[in-house]
Amino acid sequence: MKKILIIGGGAMGSAFTIPCLENKNDVTITEPYSKRFIKDLSSKKKFHSALKIKLPAKLKFRKFTNDLLTEKFDLLVIALSLPGIDFIGKKLKDQNIKTPILVLTKGLKYLSHNRKILTISENLRRNAGIKNVSVLKGPCLAKELARKNQTSVVIANRSISFAKKIGKRISTKYYLTEFSKDVIGVEVCSAIKNIYSMIIGAGQSLNASSNLFQKSILEMKYLTKYFKGKEETTLGLAGAGDLYVSAAGGRNSKMGSYLGMGYTFKTAKKKFMPNDTVEGEQLAREIAPFILKKINKQKIPLMVNLIRTIRSNKKLKIKV
Ligand SMILES: NC(=O)c1ccc[n+]([C@@H]2O[C@H](COP(=O)([O-])OP(=O)(O)OC[C@H]3O[C@@H](n4cnc5c(N)ncnc54)[C@H](O)[C@@H]3O)[C@@H](O)[C@H]2O)c1
Repeated sequence: MKKILIIGGGAMGSAFTIPCLENKNDVTITEPYSKRFIKDLSSKKKFHSALKIKLPAKLKFRKFTNDLLTEKFDLLVIALSLPGIDFIGKKLKDQNIKTPILVLTKGLKYLSHNRKILTISENLRRNAGIKNVSVLKGPCLAKELARKNQTSVVIANRSISFAKKIGKRISTKYYLTEFSKDVIGVEVCSAIKNIYSMIIGAGQSLNASSNLFQKSILEMKYLTKYFKGKEETTLGLAGAGDLYVSAAGGRNSKMGSYLGMGYTFKTAKKKFMPNDTVEGEQLAREIAPFILKKINKQKIPLMVNLIRTIRSNKKLKIKV
């Protein structure tokens, strides 16, 4: 049995507790930010309002404190959304944490002071001094995992044997793990698929969306290589696999469909999705300064077009 602390009690962090507990680990979850999730997780029934299920009784909930981070855990799992990464990176650094980290969060960070884009693992390594960072990505709708629908994900670490150790601790019959050494490629793919699923969603027919799917894969391949990941990772679970699930049924593709209908981003958000986080939009704004300045725009016309559409709040004109 391993002691695992999951930081982030949203849909994904909470769903992830289920295979971890089933694999006989000692699992604690904590929530640093959302009153709603603190209320859900600290209640006796442990009914999760986003997942719409009761979480296992064995799951322990602890209030988020600095002291909690310094307790002896074998693995710290980060399941916060992208805006929480700077916050947790600072906490880990201040508390001088050396515990291995597993990151579930999908996204990239733009550092304006040196005009660079870093993946989350690079960010934690450089800015929080964490040495052993693994990432877990792939096509996983939290609600499906929570209902034990078969799910396959990829765990990446520079040390494949460490990635496999984690896999052994968390996989179950329905939660299957693959492994990769290409940490950067896995992270880049899992982040940019949020932008490409908006683009695919903008196609107003299956034929049009399929064409956009294929062009998106080509751009993802180019960007993965540009950021020094491996091209073939684009065709794996974190790339094509995750792009499929996001394009078929996520919030990004839903927003994309409104953009495709001719709504501007702001109007569509206000009218149809006022309470939803659209991760593709957050990422588009985050990486825009870099993408629009540093990358050959002819290589990634779909992404450039979407970023400009969102930033200038104009109507989307898809060029393929
Ligand atoms: N790796 C995977 O298999 C996988 C699967 C699905 C989602 N995800 C990723 O997991 C992350 C969380 O997704 P979710 O569905 O649980 O979202 P959610 O909205 O249900 O939960 C978001 C979590 O982030 C926290 N948070 C939000 N803003 C914060 C801030 N400013 N500071 C600190 N914490 C903050 C919330 O309190 C909550 O814990 C996302 O990055 C998502 O892309 C990963």
